[in-house]
Amino acid sequence: MVIRIPDYDITKHNTFGMTVKCNDWIEYDSIHDLPSIASEIKDKKWMHIGGGSNLLFTGDYDGYILHSRIAGIEVEMLDDRKVRVSVGAGLKFDDLIDWACTRNLWGIENLSDIPGEAGAAAVQNIGAYGVEVKDVIESVECYDVMTNAFREFKNAECAYGYRDSIFKRPENRKRYIVTGLKMILQYDGTANLDYGNLKSEVADNPTPSDVRSAVGRIRASKLPAVESVGSAGSFFKNPIVSRELYESISQDCNVPHYDVEGGVKIPAAWLIEQCGWKGSTHGGAAVWHKQPLIIVNSDGHATPNDVIELENKIIDSVRLRFGIELHPEVDHVK
Ligand code: EPU
Repeated sequence: MVIRIPDYDITKHNTFGMTVKCNDWIEYDSIHDLPSIASEIKDKKWMHIGGGSNLLFTGDYDGYILHSRIAGIEVEMLDDRKVRVSVGAGLKFDDLIDWACTRNLWGIENLSDIPGEAGAAAVQNIGAYGVEVKDVIESVECYDVMTNAFREFKNAECAYGYRDSIFKRPENRKRYIVTGLKMILQYDGTANLDYGNLKSEVADNPTPSDVRSAVGRIRASKLPAVESVGSAGSFFKNPIVSRELYESISQDCNVPHYDVEGGVKIPAAWLIEQCGWKGSTHGGAAVWHKQPLIIVNSDGHATPNDVIELENKIIDSVRLRFGIELHPEVDHVK
């Protein structure tokens, strides 16, 4: 079934809670709806949305917004330790994690409580506590709006990187609609507790559900719940800088850092806090007082401009103080 609503208020479809509208909302619950939807929107302005948890609408959207309600879970035993789990793009990713943990399946428990849907998780390569969704993805199923054909991308073809994939490339954004993904989960996996203080939050011999609960406790202590305070999670990416720049900054202060391919990763939260932004407000927007990587809609009435102005002030001050360019992680939709 296809639901179409003209002049639709999408405030509830973006976790930032920006009060904006789109010209046409189209929601579908079967891949068989896609060929006719695609022929209608192909030459028009359109975008596909998931849970709207990584988006900043910079104003009303004068085009079509598509949303999938394909939310099934199918399981196939591969051997006595491994299963292939196929899910629809419209499934809430955290519902999948809950489902997997209840069945003692390992692989995605560290991603607990990240808002958003499975399709967007695969596009964005969501990550937390040392795990990225690419680690378990076998393939991503898409509809190609350009050729009117279904296509499956194997993991290696997705060109996964830090919050990045082939689906985020400008030429592919208006081409591929993710319809579902296949993941490999394990019955005999082991807990990945290497990130931060996760290990100290978990008892010996944990189950996937124990890890899920611990991640939930850590997140709740730092991150705003999107149900009560609007945000889009981390607003900025953690920058990767050259070793020379890191060394010159660390002459004056003790800089938290991680060695990664291509340089040194410095937490954007630390850079923003050093510039004095933690807890600051600008109009209805604010820098979250417990985790400055997150910009929130603090009074529920923040405008896109409040957020963008605060974003630019933060970027300017980090550049001025450290010579580091911050880049938003949140997609700005025009
Ligand atoms: N930090 C501060 N001040 C703070 C908080 C953190 O200086 O108030 C510094 C500390 O040095 C800390 C470091 O930042 O050790 C890292 O903090 P944290 O572990 O909270 O993680 P993050 O780098 O800020 C990333 C992801 C989060 C994910 C966490 C946990 C990005 C852009 N963000 O944040 O993802 O939950 O790691 O794995 O990579 C998201 O993508 O929306 C998201 C929330």
